[in-house]
This record gives sequence, C-alpha cells and structure tokens, in this order.
Amino acid sequence: MVLEACGVEKWFYRGKGSSNRFFAVRMADLKLEPGRVTGLTGRSGSGKTTLMNMLAGLLTPDGGRVLLDEKDLYAQDDPSLSALRNRHFGMIPQGGELFPHLTVMENILLPRGILKSKKESGRQEEEYAKELMERMDILPLSSVPAGELSGGERRRVCIARALAGKPEFIFADEPTSDLDDGNTRMTLTILRQAADSGAAVMIVTHDSEVAEYADTMLRMDGGIIRGTD
Ligand SMILES: Nc1ncnc2c1ncn2[C@@H]1O[C@H](COP(=O)(O)OP(=O)(O)O)[C@@H](O)[C@H]1O
Ligand SMILES: [Mg+2]
Repeated sequence: MVLEACGVEKWFYRGKGSSNRFFAVRMADLKLEPGRVTGLTGRSGSGKTTLMNMLAGLLTPDGGRVLLDEKDLYAQDDPSLSALRNRHFGMIPQGGELFPHLTVMENILLPRGILKSKKESGRQEEEYAKELMERMDILPLSSVPAGELSGGERRRVCIARALAGKPEFIFADEPTSDLDDGNTRMTLTILRQAADSGAAVMIVTHDSEVAEYADTMLRMDGGIIRGTD
C-alpha cells in the first residue's frame, strides 16, 4: 500500500476575522511507501504533527487530498475510516496517552480487540506483543497500571501498542523525546526493522540521530516541506 499527500493544506484562525487565517500546513506533497522510513524534522510549530495527523486519517485537510492506493482517504465515512486506521495504521502520538487504570498489557491489547482472545490469530498477536514488550524491556511491567509508569516507560508502551498489529503504516510523533540514549536507539532500531519487514514508517523528530535510520529526511518550515535536509 502507498499513502500519498497531494497538495495537502490545513489552516487555522488566529484572533478574530477571516483575515487572521494562517496555514499550519501548506501545499504538502509526500509519499509513504513500504520498506521506507521517512524522517520529518523542523522547529516546534512548523506543522509536523498537523501534517502527520492528516496522513494518519485523524484530521481532515482543508485543501488537497490524501490518497491510499490512489483512493481518497477522506472520501469515506467515519466508521470506514476508523476501521481502516485500526487495521492498517499504527500511531505513536506525541502525548503518549494511555488508560491510567488499565495495566500495560491491557493498554497494548485492548485496541486490537484481542484481550483474552481465544482465536488463533488473536493468540499470535498477543505473542508478538509480548515479544515487542520483551525487546523494549517492559514485559516485567505487564500487570502494572499504566498510571504508575514513568514518561519513558509510557512511551515504550505506546510504541508496543502501535506495532502490535503489524500495521502497514507507522506514524511516530517524536517517539524518542523522553527516552535515554539506549532506549532511543532501541526504538529507532525497532522502527527500522518494521520498515525492513515491509511497513512504511514516518518519524517526526528533533533527534538528528534519526537520519541514520531513515531513507528520506524532510524538513518543515512554516508549514512548508522544504525538502531533503
Ligand atoms: N487545533 C488547532 N487550532 C489552532 N491552531 C493549531 C491547532 N493545531 C495546531 N495549530 C497551530 O498550527 C501550527 C503547527 O502546529 P503543529 O503541527 O503542532 O506543529 P509541530 O508539530 O511542528 O510542533 C502551530 O502554530 C500550532 O499552534
Ligand atoms: Mg508536534
């Protein structure tokens, strides 16, 4: 599957009146393909999260189109779009929100609908989730409520949750922002390996280290993609 942004735009209003319209993202063209890691850097407020959310099916563009295998992502109704997202997209959001009263394992499995699944496919996904947790050193935290975790631990749970369903597209919004060097490398390695197994990966980041793991590096400035860094 290929996901493409064609002249995608998003604007917001600041203050009163339509004259205060400003573009958070302007005329963005971008292609995400299987096997490739795309890194997106840029200053805070340059439009990275807004662009990623539009690609991830979470925010309707005001202009242009997002095409999944040449079909307009936003032409379908909300339930179809959610089903598609659930099936093909994995999201590591900037905030890293989890359900605080649910355990780590519940947080990871619940969105996949495979908690206590008796189906073979569900059990396989659970095994894969455990393998990811083991690699990210959060398996011992399986039954700990997510609300008791540190920022870095929460972040790793979000990553395991996003990858557990082996999605075709992975969107990671500053996935290493609260991780130490070791966990940063481990996270970037896991994202690289997901791409090597066929996923299309997009990483928004301040971390220059990402360049070593990416096939393409793009920079955003004032809502505009300025091309390769
Ligand atoms: N829902 C919103 N309403 C108004 N302004 C927004 C909204 N979301 C983002 N913005 C503005 O759009 C610009 C780009 O934001 P964002 O995409 O979050 O940047 P980045 O992720 O690069 O830091 C910022 O100026 C931000 O304040
Ligand atoms: Mg952001």
